[in-house]
Amino acid sequence: MAKIDPIKPHIEENFFTPEEYASIYKSVQDTMDIGMKEANDPWLHFRKNTNNGFLVIFFSERRHGSLPGLSKEVEDKIRKKFEEKTGGPVDHIGILWARYSPLSGEIPSLYPHQDRSETHTAYMFTIELDKTLDWDFYVEDDKFEMKKNQAIWFSGTNQAHWRPDKYFGDEDYYDILLCQTHHGEDENPLEEEHYLDGDDHATEVAQKYAHLLQQTLEKSMRLQGPCQ
Ligand SMILES: [Fe+2]
Repeated sequence: MAKIDPIKPHIEENFFTPEEYASIYKSVQDTMDIGMKEANDPWLHFRKNTNNGFLVIFFSERRHGSLPGLSKEVEDKIRKKFEEKTGGPVDHIGILWARYSPLSGEIPSLYPHQDRSETHTAYMFTIELDKTLDWDFYVEDDKFEMKKNQAIWFSGTNQAHWRPDKYFGDEDYYDILLCQTHHGEDENPLEEEHYLDGDDHATEVAQKYAHLLQQTLEKSMRLQGPCQ
């Protein structure tokens, strides 16, 4: 199989149908309801990630559990989109829903980084779902002014991606769905050297855009560990 190239970052508008959208939020709301019932805490079954400043559900881990997962319709839609994009079958698909919010215990941020979460060149997209404020998304130097239900396709293992500082009040939130896989016929696993070069490159991007990342850089000094 020829080498699989990273995706050229691009937008896909109107990703989910209204029914699919409602179905995703039903899974989120059901998760909150269970937490309320069990411990009077809607966030009980979300993981708090302070490095990103979000509350997260790893939907791909819920396929065999008792907590609410995504509907078959939504899972099938995501798989179909990946198969269209790769031109062939895909195996595993990672899906997370995240709410960036100060309720996570930290300010929301997306420090420039390349992902280590795929063993091969990633096919991924982030979709803006619900929100109280606008927040741009960057892949390298390309700025995407996000809109609801708009996906950005990119290869997070190979391209530094990030968001500029954004002030979130206590009531503010910004929801995304992030989905990822790799090409089913990619026979070239990424080496450790690739990931290390990616870390160096992301640091260069962070320095280049330091004027847009003051809070984010300050936070990364305070906290250790990677973001997702
Ligand atoms: Fe990432």
